[in-house]
Amino acid sequence: MPKNEDHDCCAECRKRTLDRREMLVLAGGAAALAVLPACGPPTGSPPTGTIAAGNISALAVGALVVMSNLVVGRDASGVYAMSAVCTHAGCLLDDGSQSIAAGLSCPCHGSAFDGNGKVTRGPAGTPLQHYAVTIAADGSVTVDASQPVSASTRTPVS
Ligand code: FES
Repeated sequence: MPKNEDHDCCAECRKRTLDRREMLVLAGGAAALAVLPACGPPTGSPPTGTIAAGNISALAVGALVVMSNLVVGRDASGVYAMSAVCTHAGCLLDDGSQSIAAGLSCPCHGSAFDGNGKVTRGPAGTPLQHYAVTIAADGSVTVDASQPVSASTRTPVS
């Protein structure tokens, strides 16, 4: 499925939103809204600027941790960071078992990404964007989301 193309779930959510608006107009109150289900898990915007991402001592080799709209991972070559915003329609990804081996999944329409951000199941069609990472002498990890890097970029841990 091409990126950003609606599928049944997206169309259903939009229809439900319209139905909810129509119901409110007809019913004239919030009581009607309260009995109708909300549509979809939280969405987010890709990370921007400089972001403090904890200390390297808390990130074991093999770990993959979602921090709001940012994912930080550590493999044998070092630390890396990626957007945690699904490239299909912008939902925030779930890190499941918090391991690179388990990867990431999207609660909205079922897309999945491997531990390095490559799409393993659609409807998402684009990998997650990686960002530059620095590690200070005290172990503080900082991500610069204004600096996109390739998916193979790692910051070594000394
Ligand atoms: S937003 Fe649709 S699969 Fe993630």
